[in-house]
Amino acid sequence: MKTYSDFHRRLHRWYRLQGRHHLPWRNTKDPYHIWLSEVMLQQTQVQTVLDRYYQPFLERFPTIESLAQADSQEVLKLWQGLGYYNRAKNLHKAAQIIDKKLPETVEMLMQLPGIGRNTAHAIAVFAYHQPVAVMEANLKRVLCRIFALETPTENELWQKAGELLDTDKPFNYNQAMMDLGAMICTPEAPQCLLCPAAKTCAGKASPKSYPVGKLKKVLPLREHKIVLFTDPHGSIHIHQRDGKFLHGMWSFMEYESSVDTAYFENQAYPFSRMKKLGEVSHAYTHFQYHAVVYVQKISRKLLHSIYSICHASIINKI
Ligand code: ADE
Repeated sequence: MKTYSDFHRRLHRWYRLQGRHHLPWRNTKDPYHIWLSEVMLQQTQVQTVLDRYYQPFLERFPTIESLAQADSQEVLKLWQGLGYYNRAKNLHKAAQIIDKKLPETVEMLMQLPGIGRNTAHAIAVFAYHQPVAVMEANLKRVLCRIFALETPTENELWQKAGELLDTDKPFNYNQAMMDLGAMICTPEAPQCLLCPAAKTCAGKASPKSYPVGKLKKVLPLREHKIVLFTDPHGSIHIHQRDGKFLHGMWSFMEYESSVDTAYFENQAYPFSRMKKLGEVSHAYTHFQYHAVVYVQKISRKLLHSIYSICHASIINKI
């Protein structure tokens, strides 16, 4: 079998000089902190996690026990803006399942909610120094290029990831491979001249051919109307959502776009008579969201008969 010791040597040298050693989850031995970072990083850029989420979450919930005992609304509040809220719900659930200490084996980690194979491998190697390969999105692209794979299956990629792994220094190897994907082997402008994998890389003649890009799907558009029910003092009604989408999150009243009258606390409010405040759009992974936002004044008595309000200053941020 082919050995990659020459590549490993080059990779470690490059990582020593260029790697992102300052990332806080690379400078802790606490498996809980590493687990949290990996969950936050599942669908989110490093910079976003670093700037606004990782430290505040750990300040509020420094241990698994403190997270297990937390109120789920408070957990979601700290996740607000990070998206993919099931990650926070699963993290909270998992903290309640485990007894103080995160398990160490990939198999046991994968039994926990929100921990798939990649996150289990990441925890196993970064928290417990086990010789397993990580395979997040950037790393998949690096593997496709090094092995010139156009349309590999997940299994093929896991097999290649295991083949290339440096089992002697798995922690630094995996962190280095992620940095390579984020800094050198980027989707649009790979810098092969600076790449420590260049000698080994089967795809370097045309790196952008690997992997063959998925055709971008046109996302379905979901259109809504949002109403801010406010009292004359500027308080606005919010409620906790049911249904599948953003379940449990606090939100203004939302209606299907085809509806022409908003029913709220047994009163009818035709949209044609409401003041239009503006429009909002947001791209989710599976659909495009668009809403026209209206304001409707209601009496202070009615608003305060309903249990939740927030203050109108947030209107300025919309
Ligand atoms: N993405 C997922 N895990 C990561 C890590 N440990 N460092 C940087 N980016 C990552």
